[in-house]
Amino acid sequence: MNSYTAIRGCFFDFIDDPWKHLGNDRAAARFERDGLLVIEDGIIRDFGPYADLAEKYSGVPLTHIRDRMILPGFIDGHIHFPQTRVLGAHGAQLLDWLQTSIFPEEEKYADRDYAEEAAEHFFNALLAGGTTTCQAFTTSSPVSTEAFFEEAARRQMRVIAGLTGIDKFAPPDTLISADDFYRESKRLIEQYHRCGRNLYAITPRFAVGCTEEMLTYAAQLKREHEDCWINTHISENPTEVRAARTEFPECSDYTAVHEKHGLLGAKFTAGHGIWLSNDEFRRFSQAGAALAFCPMSNLFLGSGLFRLGRALDPEHPVRLALGSDMGAGNAFSLIRVLDEAYKVGLCNNTMLDGSVNPLQQDLAEAERNKLNPYRAFYLATLGGARALYLDDLLGNFQPGKEADFVALDWTAGQQAISWRQSLTTKTGSPATIDEAAELLFGIMALSDDRSVAETWIAGQCAYRKESTDTAREA
Ligand code: GUN
Ligand code: ZN
Repeated sequence: MNSYTAIRGCFFDFIDDPWKHLGNDRAAARFERDGLLVIEDGIIRDFGPYADLAEKYSGVPLTHIRDRMILPGFIDGHIHFPQTRVLGAHGAQLLDWLQTSIFPEEEKYADRDYAEEAAEHFFNALLAGGTTTCQAFTTSSPVSTEAFFEEAARRQMRVIAGLTGIDKFAPPDTLISADDFYRESKRLIEQYHRCGRNLYAITPRFAVGCTEEMLTYAAQLKREHEDCWINTHISENPTEVRAARTEFPECSDYTAVHEKHGLLGAKFTAGHGIWLSNDEFRRFSQAGAALAFCPMSNLFLGSGLFRLGRALDPEHPVRLALGSDMGAGNAFSLIRVLDEAYKVGLCNNTMLDGSVNPLQQDLAEAERNKLNPYRAFYLATLGGARALYLDDLLGNFQPGKEADFVALDWTAGQQAISWRQSLTTKTGSPATIDEAAELLFGIMALSDDRSVAETWIAGQCAYRKESTDTAREA
């Protein structure tokens, strides 16, 4: 017997990319003030105005989520499972931070008990932030990858992850030989890829930590398992970029390292990309490869300001996902990541508006840097799904997609939020799409996990904020 359920409430999602509708961004979004989402066995079967659908589905058990805005679940395109316990480590930039705070912690994940306990903390924290899908790094120990996939499967979550390949530039216990990486990756792909909702990413950590042999094996794995994803880092920190140039002198830039090995292409994601040139952005775009924009991490480690508006040049836009990059990002919350992303866009514009140097003025690029709520929540949902080639499965409320969603409380957050939001909603709830978008901006500018009232996975409530008093009716 198939299991049907229906959710009534106020829905907000995207059907297009707002950057394609500059000046009329709302054309990319959809707002159902009183909508109905009909779910069968975790898959969306119908979606539309409650008034149009209520009669047709009158026999289906109904949950009415009141006073919340329901969005597709957030998608985190770049996060590190084994950094859960060391997020917010103080005082260093990327390469020192890895050596002092990260590698010693990641080594603990060879212990199954430790990795399993961590997986519980990790997924609890994700759900509390409204994130329903992530693409994650594990460690170079297969045990951590197993613990990750097992816990994701228990929670029925759509995830992408893979064994992390690093065979230099770290203490011996952090490394895995290229041969072992190849053999273990293959075993893990066979065991976990497309098992339930698990998807596998071949994961060479970053060029600086990978020998030629490791990258060659990564390419071979991709050839042998074309359906798999590839996940890595690129051009995060200037010292790292210089090291990559030294290690791969034959490559004209960092992107060329991945081109040389046949890795750059569809279903390839690299985190950061702060120091990529315009030409590298163009090659990413042409290859259909994605970048994960990780502003919270980029600021926390002092890595730099991602050139959002340049990456989204309409002539050759790069597919972009958002990444928390937790633990270099000091929170799991994509709501907080959006806050940081907004500020990065505006900081870029200090140069682009020409007020410092008229020669650097580029008003079109400056416009693309402005993360209004349409653009912001697009990146966190449908945009992320498109970047990761998951938009056939996720990202909005189209029938046929998986029913992962989040119910946001626009009055929860810092003390002042509810009065701030009342300026927008004179009736107490959003009446128009622009009012809804303005409430969403209030959430990203003033809040965090506190806005996440409920998180639903495959049509079932997987997290409910304890203090939230959600009114319901059968
Ligand atoms: N580059 C290589 N490894 C890492 C990591 O764990 N975090 C970040 N932010 N960058 C990296
Ligand atoms: Zn990272």
